[in-house]
Amino acid sequence: NELYLNGAFVPPAEACVSVMDRGFLFGDGVYEVIPSYGGRFLGLEPHLDRLDASLAALRIQTPLGREDWRALLRRLIGTPPVPDQYVYLQVTRGVAPERDHLCPEGIEPTVLAFARPIKPRAPAIAEQGVACITRPDIRWLRGEIKSISLAAAVLMRREAADADALETIMHRDGWVTEGAVSNVFVVADGALMTPPKSRWLLSGITRELALTLAREHGIEYQERPVALDTLRAADEIWLSSSTREVLPVTRLDGERVGDGRPGPLWRRMDAIYQDYKA
Ligand code: PDD
Repeated sequence: NELYLNGAFVPPAEACVSVMDRGFLFGDGVYEVIPSYGGRFLGLEPHLDRLDASLAALRIQTPLGREDWRALLRRLIGTPPVPDQYVYLQVTRGVAPERDHLCPEGIEPTVLAFARPIKPRAPAIAEQGVACITRPDIRWLRGEIKSISLAAAVLMRREAADADALETIMHRDGWVTEGAVSNVFVVADGALMTPPKSRWLLSGITRELALTLAREHGIEYQERPVALDTLRAADEIWLSSSTREVLPVTRLDGERVGDGRPGPLWRRMDAIYQDYKA
């Protein structure tokens, strides 16, 4: 199962990056996680658009053209029949001669990409949903950049796991931002809503897809700020991400969400989503 590193396909054990790589020393890089089902990518172009935007925001030069990215990703997942897989791809600013925050010009970015199987969703999730906790959003104010500096997300996932929860939903000044590794949807007073795109959250490709599918199926929604109180009183809460699709949250900080079962609107969205990705 070879991975891609700087132009070569190599076995993982032979893939080496210098300790002077800025990704290693500074977390100075960006990434994407792109799902594929039955050998077909879901949201390939939006993922590559977001990669370009993240690179531009951090002023890292784009190492590959669009057609080269497509060819690389296709090669990594192989030709059908193949299992459902995601591709992880990462670009760091590259290897600099000194550990200096200020990076000299002319450094070549480091490009890493590999494919891994997507675990099928456990049947218990559709039956019982998942648990979440809430925490203040302690991250920096450029959440729209898919940066590899993920210390806060690592800490939030740890705290969730310690509370027997899957994910931490974060809030800033009383407003829900997103999950540590997912976006958040809420159903309250019969209305589906999700926080609008901003610098406080990652513009999730799955979030965007769920909104598009909602539109196409006549499900009304609003992109509007969601208060933490609204989250706590919600009838349904969903999480969305490329590797986990759209998940129903049935416990929040140990309390039941709605009647404690995955809600009817989630069931509808999940059916639409499963149908779309097939
Ligand atoms: N995480 N918000 C954050 C902070 C994320 O890290 C992610 C994805 C999302 C959902 O985005 P998308 O629908 O484009 O996957 C939202 C990936 C899967 C990860 O870090 O593994």
